Amino acid sequence: MSALIRFEKVAVTPPGWEAPLFHEVSFSVAGGELLALTGPSGTGKTLLLKAACGLVPISAGSIFVGEESIDQAGDIELFAIRRRIGMLFQQGALFDTLSVLQNVAFPLLRRGISQDLARERALIELERVSLSRAKDLLPAELSGGMRKRVGIARALVADPPVALFDEPIAGLDPVTGARILDLVRTACDNRGVAAIVVGHETDTLLPACDSAGILLGGNLAHFETALAARQAKDPAVRQLMTGSLEGPL
Ligand SMILES: Nc1ncnc2c1ncn2[C@@H]1O[C@H](COP(=O)(O)OP(=O)(O)OP(=O)(O)O)[C@@H](O)[C@H]1O
Ligand SMILES: [Mg+2]
Repeated sequence: MSALIRFEKVAVTPPGWEAPLFHEVSFSVAGGELLALTGPSGTGKTLLLKAACGLVPISAGSIFVGEESIDQAGDIELFAIRRRIGMLFQQGALFDTLSVLQNVAFPLLRRGISQDLARERALIELERVSLSRAKDLLPAELSGGMRKRVGIARALVADPPVALFDEPIAGLDPVTGARILDLVRTACDNRGVAAIVVGHETDTLLPACDSAGILLGGNLAHFETALAARQAKDPAVRQLMTGSLEGPL
């Protein structure tokens, strides 16, 4: 299947920084493919995802969503491109004063879909993440794992071709984490979504993913298969995989 999202030699310079945080980052994700993105804290994983949906500017290279380039897009085109991307933000970014159902329906209402249809589709999406019974609760009344699942439902409710999940299993028990990863995997397998999942839990993440990217020292090491990442010889990559105190990191 062809790439639904593609980075070509991308550099990102955070606001106020003189030099890029990372550069020459190239990879692509096809429909149905799940890419694991990992790397030490502060290397720019969140910024990379935000760049992918045009929320932070890139300082070099190009990002394509389908055939369209984000960096060449004007405001109206960028708006349309963003609608083709679902995003689970690292901090959740749920609307505190909206119920679970209203949070999930929000992307549909923003697309001009009627209240009734938005509600119907949000309920189907909540069913997929086993949260139908929590539909009237507020975010403050949810557990951490439930909140992540609401965020996943909101990211997928509009059936985007591309979905980005920033640390969906951080801080969760292993079983809840595995269930959440299974939801992401199912979205790729059954709905043909091209997805990126960011996380530090490489033991859990990599077996569920097709390919992997590791942000290290301002570069991305891209592995066509997740197995190749697990077997990589590079000492820094090995240290990241094993969590050892010994090594170059
Ligand atoms: N809006 C911003 N303005 C200035 N600097 C920023 C901004 N966003 C991020 N940064 C800086 O860019 C660097 C990378 O941040 P980012 O959040 O992408 O890291 P990360 O790899 O996701 O880390 P973690 O694993 O802890 O989530 C950090 O040094 C951060 O301070
Ligand atoms: Mg982050």
